[in-house]
Amino acid sequence: MSSGDLAAAAFSRRSGVLHCESVPLQSIAAQFGTPTYVYSRRAIVDAYQAYARALAGRPSLVCYAMKANSNLAVLNLLARAGAGFDIVSGGELARVLAAGGEPGKVVFSGVGKSADEIRAALAAEILCFNLESTEELERLQQVASDAGVRARISVRTNPDVDAKTHPYITTGLKQNKFGVALDDTLALYRRAAHLPNIEIVGIDCHIGSQITEVAPYVDAADKVLDLVDALEREGIVLRHIDFGGGLGIAYRDETPPTAGALIAAMLARVDQRGHAGKHILVEPGRSIVGAAGALLTRVNLVKAGAEKNFAIVDAAMNDLMRPALYQAWMDVQPVRQRDEPSKRYDIVGPVCESGDWLARERDIALRSDDLLAVLGAGAYGMSMASNYNSRPRAAEVMVDGDRVHRIRQRETVAQLFADESVLPD
Ligand code: LLP
Repeated sequence: MSSGDLAAAAFSRRSGVLHCESVPLQSIAAQFGTPTYVYSRRAIVDAYQAYARALAGRPSLVCYAMKANSNLAVLNLLARAGAGFDIVSGGELARVLAAGGEPGKVVFSGVGKSADEIRAALAAEILCFNLESTEELERLQQVASDAGVRARISVRTNPDVDAKTHPYITTGLKQNKFGVALDDTLALYRRAAHLPNIEIVGIDCHIGSQITEVAPYVDAADKVLDLVDALEREGIVLRHIDFGGGLGIAYRDETPPTAGALIAAMLARVDQRGHAGKHILVEPGRSIVGAAGALLTRVNLVKAGAEKNFAIVDAAMNDLMRPALYQAWMDVQPVRQRDEPSKRYDIVGPVCESGDWLARERDIALRSDDLLAVLGAGAYGMSMASNYNSRPRAAEVMVDGDRVHRIRQRETVAQLFADESVLPD
């Protein structure tokens, strides 16, 4: 898939104008202003269904990793489609519940769950805590015992495979802070098996994000299945195996496997190793929402620098952090193509940091007031946005065929400091 095809299902050019489903992006800018995140309902639901179809006929659950995009409308659509959720905080749990998600389909990941967060998740009766350390197991036992309940657990094992992705988003290597070392995992299960308020139900792993090959998943699966076998030899029988998330999308010229191909490879492995009866869980985030979203922004002004031309747009690193944080390449398209020679631009925001860029050295024909769309921005866009430089966060809209729904109001400046106060005289 070339970058021009990115999110083809969600965004396409009709008569030279970029559309989301059937809606031209200029009309969204006219109605809601910029910067605005635009999502396609169909693309989100289709991406979820690709996983669900691949797992059909098996006991399974697709737990959407909601850190990728936690807008209530997104969560609600996925809940209605049957999804479960992978959460990493009490805030995310509250969002799932507010969006109508089923707590019984929630898995709780993360290295630093607090006692308060654990209490809230136990009260909601979530499906499973994905444990990441011995100390966390002891804390969970204590909180569950105080609450008079049993906590269902899975241990997140760290399979020490290289997912060959950006160092900030690889998680399954020995040097990463995530998971329990492969060699220590059995001991943690043995300890868990003796705790009265703990019920062992599964095992999980997550090796990284924006992974574009099947091989690291299969390597990780083999190591997890070795553990499943070892546990069963000791009489600890698991109900589910959770292979985590991480499947990449095509931002530029990457060719990730489809969700269907990935799941087929994993299931084949599970079956070969004699575990066909196990419930299979996955935790995809980016591959559900990434291609379904774009950040719509307007060129504020064009500046010819000493060495470079800059297109200064009204979205910035606070709206979309991926380029500044990971040097991520994101596709930027003019909403209406100009019939003029292109020039080479750095597309930057107004924030006072040299790291505030959305795209570098792009050949594009543009002028002030033109609209641009940053494609592939549905995942880790709005969910990582901040208010740096006292910039209100963008609006979000969801397109459904030829209709547009506002799913988050643009923040106001007054909201930004409404909770602050000055010292008394
Ligand atoms: N499960 C766990 C335990 C995770 O930590 C993550 C993501 C996922 C599932 C979902 O991974 P996905 O399918 O979205 O790759 N902000 C970065 C990505 C950080 C991913 C963190 N963990 C970015 O913009 O590239």
